[in-house]
Amino acid sequence: MQQPCLTPSFSRNAYINDHFLMDEEVVHQSAHTLLSCGDNFRLMKQAVDELYRVFSTITGVTIDQLNGDKDIWLPSGKAISTSAAAHCLLEMKRTAVFLRGINSAISLKISEVINRPVRILYAGTGPYGTLVIPLLKLYKAEELTVDLLDINSGSLAALQKVTDALTLSPYIGEVYCTDATTFVVTKPYDIVISETLLACLKSEPQVAIMQNLVPQLSEACLFIPEEISVDAFLTNPKLETDRLFYSGTEPLPFQRRMIENVFKLSKLSIVLSRKTLLVPECIIAFPVLKLFTTVTVFGNEILTGNDSSITMPKQYFDFIKQNAREVEFWYVQGEKPRIEGRVVNFSS
Ligand SMILES: C[S@@+](CC[C@H](N)C(=O)[O-])C[C@H]1O[C@@H](n2cnc3c(N)ncnc32)[C@H](O)[C@@H]1O
Repeated sequence: MQQPCLTPSFSRNAYINDHFLMDEEVVHQSAHTLLSCGDNFRLMKQAVDELYRVFSTITGVTIDQLNGDKDIWLPSGKAISTSAAAHCLLEMKRTAVFLRGINSAISLKISEVINRPVRILYAGTGPYGTLVIPLLKLYKAEELTVDLLDINSGSLAALQKVTDALTLSPYIGEVYCTDATTFVVTKPYDIVISETLLACLKSEPQVAIMQNLVPQLSEACLFIPEEISVDAFLTNPKLETDRLFYSGTEPLPFQRRMIENVFKLSKLSIVLSRKTLLVPECIIAFPVLKLFTTVTVFGNEILTGNDSSITMPKQYFDFIKQNAREVEFWYVQGEKPRIEGRVVNFSS
């Protein structure tokens, strides 16, 4: 049933003691670092490690709690367990790029919305609320209100400890323990955020969540990520390995051949239609077909290739073993969402 399951309590819990000011400061500093460190991976890692230290101490949720901490299987895909969702924080580039994109979206909406706070729905918070919590104190509580939603009550209970300990309750609106694929939107949100995906839109219910939420949003509402694109490329395994292990100062350019876009998921495109692709002649030099996922969080904040687990390239066909003129891809929805493909036209 869709009802707020936790009324945000503004009372300070037992955790709040001498540590809380220090923790607030650490979260603030880490957010600043992640927003401003560019591609400095040493600073990025330090910042996510610090956030992890604070959040795991406050909540007691760590990344290695394997017992009794289960994934939740929904008709639309897998909602990952509390500790697995906590682990997402440590995917440093993913976390940095999402925070940067979401911060830009919030700033934009604050500049547009007059006489009321910007309204955000965060669907799929995990136990730490990683993509929003570190940003909140960069703004005044009058400037934005966040509704929190997750299917996992354990994650929401942990998140309430975070909001209490970091005195973030004035920023929090409703807290919903429900399925985002059936959630009925009752407020005019300005920004909706949901990162419930893996590379090639596999396993997790991002597509079903967007198919439910997007039609309920106003034209002006921003959905984050803005776009998820899956594109087919032909690659050469040797050139890929050479590039990976190249020790020169400047990275070697990618040598791949793009075939075509396979699927695009965005506010403007929530239906993933079957797609047939012509395989170009160059398959002798570039025999391996891979699907590359690109996530445009917001504006220029983009994740590609090996940046994170949500964009990792995935091999579909090896044309050394099986020649082809045409291949077809389609998206399977249900408990195990995935992209499937087959060769439809063999070449002699
Ligand atoms: C990949 S984790 C992301 C956690 C956090 N937002 C982050 O980016 O670090 C996805 C979260 O979405 C939740 N989730 C997945 N499917 C959901 C659904 N259909 N409805 C509500 N929550 C869902 C999971 O329980 C999990 O906490």
